[in-house]
Amino acid sequence: VSLEVSTEGGNSSSPLLYGFMFEDINHSGDGGIYAQLLRNNGLQGSKPDLTAWGSVGNSKIAVDSDNPLTSAITHTLRVDVPKEATGRVGVTNAGYWGIPVDGSNFHTSFWIKGKLDGDITARLVGNGTGTEYASKSISVSSNGNKFTVVDASFETTKAPDGNVYYELTVDGKSVAGSSLYFGLVQLFPRTYKDRQNGLQPKLANALESVKGSFLRFPGGNNLEGDDGGSRWKWNETIGPVEDRPGRQGTWTYPNTDGLGLDEYFYWCEDMGLEPVLDVWAGFALQSGGNTPITGDALKPYVDDVLNELEYVLGDKSTKYGALRASYGRDDPWPLKMVEIGNEDNLGGGCQSYSERFTAFYDAVHKAYPDLTLIASTSEKSCLPSSMPKGAWMDYHDYNSPDGLVGQFNYFDNSDRSVPYFIGEYAQNGVDWPIMQGSVAEAVFMIGLERNSDVVKMAAYAPLLQLTNSTQWKPNLIGYTQSPTGLVETSSYFVQEMFSVNRGDTIKKVTSDLSFGPVYWVASSAKDAYFVKLANYGSKTQDISIAISGKNQGKLTVVADDDAKAANTDTETPIAPTDSTVSAKDGKFTFTLPAWSVAVLAAS
Ligand code: AHR
Repeated sequence: VSLEVSTEGGNSSSPLLYGFMFEDINHSGDGGIYAQLLRNNGLQGSKPDLTAWGSVGNSKIAVDSDNPLTSAITHTLRVDVPKEATGRVGVTNAGYWGIPVDGSNFHTSFWIKGKLDGDITARLVGNGTGTEYASKSISVSSNGNKFTVVDASFETTKAPDGNVYYELTVDGKSVAGSSLYFGLVQLFPRTYKDRQNGLQPKLANALESVKGSFLRFPGGNNLEGDDGGSRWKWNETIGPVEDRPGRQGTWTYPNTDGLGLDEYFYWCEDMGLEPVLDVWAGFALQSGGNTPITGDALKPYVDDVLNELEYVLGDKSTKYGALRASYGRDDPWPLKMVEIGNEDNLGGGCQSYSERFTAFYDAVHKAYPDLTLIASTSEKSCLPSSMPKGAWMDYHDYNSPDGLVGQFNYFDNSDRSVPYFIGEYAQNGVDWPIMQGSVAEAVFMIGLERNSDVVKMAAYAPLLQLTNSTQWKPNLIGYTQSPTGLVETSSYFVQEMFSVNRGDTIKKVTSDLSFGPVYWVASSAKDAYFVKLANYGSKTQDISIAISGKNQGKLTVVADDDAKAANTDTETPIAPTDSTVSAKDGKFTFTLPAWSVAVLAAS
């Protein structure tokens, strides 16, 4: 294939094109990017139980509802110590199928009620081996009348794997015949950018390397809830963590909401991402008879979104802006984009969406005319017959590799008047992204980039998966609880290559052949040119690229001859390679391997 990239003119490309979609699925939040490491630490969810907890010595543990910590954390962990107790007694927590002890300085905290004057020992211990990765003696003086907060920092030794548990013990004799109550026990490693209540560095660093432009949150289905009552409620995710009740998430497990509204904005701020806040639009996943909500019944939910936006955008003179400031954030968050609902074309939401979208749009646009408001679908039959000026639409595409390639042209002739957000897309039908699917995603993305005057943003989904917890596959990044357990999939490398090498102008490319099996797009930024290529086939392809005046470049290639090859938690055969390339007679020439994605960056 011979390509000639024009150095004249071109169409402007969206500066936000590549970014992230995040929701708590596959324990991507609790047990994942939210750095708190103990599972079931606040006994939250619809049926609080003893998941992850164990007892030490001859003490017995139970879920207690008579000694709530706060009106939000209504259950605590009761440790009954028998009269004849000797030795150490207390509790263990298994973490989220283990604890990644990365050798950083850890921090633990908990509330305790019950008479104790003495030391509590916090330890991190290898299951089976008994190897101690940390041990900290904490002096405690507590009583039976109220909860006392305890916290301590301590050094850790890096563990070889995640097969580690947390333990809190006291001398049994000193508390024999009594009960101790523990509330909201927390354990944090050193967090990403040292943010309090922050992110797990292993995962945050992997995302930072992608250099994405935006973060869509908090869902996805997890925004919607299985019914209206279990939707994600912004006001229950703010303030001190002991005042956050958590909720039964959509993806089968309780969410602590420790990763709450402000934490999402700190994530954006720390990673340089534009926030895209998704708000609930009167429609839950399993409507259960109580959604969609329409007519006058929708008003409280519209008002709730206005309150949420005042919390995010209001200054300190406003009620909710003052609340945000009281929680430590004086300045409003720099929110510019709000999505109304999630996939309202599905599950019986379509018919009422036009009415619901309009109700939210009108109220939010009136209060915040500068916000970009995004409909949660692009299906015309679900949208108002004429979309308000400036509104965008969201288009999702989970597809087979061939299906994604078939979508290459999807936006070529689309109406330019209403921009698109591709809020979710990925290959489907596999456990881990396979090379063929990652090449197909690249073909799809080349189609998006060629149309990035109207396609403003696009995000792979889902983003993260703890390998012990699968509700959806494949995912962009997998991880285990080993401190180094990170699976950068072939799709992750494609996202990184495409996002890091971005121009602001899409250039015309003249070719001797038409698209397929090789696909391409070229862009420029100042003096740099980027040519992205995908070879969706099992044969190698000889490529020649001419860019007038450009003779030096870096070629990054990710490939595997085996279309089904995948990076997984057991093998990682796929990794990108970089090489320096020079143009001869004005042309860069190289061979694209079978099933490959490549970026030529020329300057
Ligand atoms: O990404 C997984 C799910 O796919 C999202 O929660 C939902 O929006 C879509 O159906």
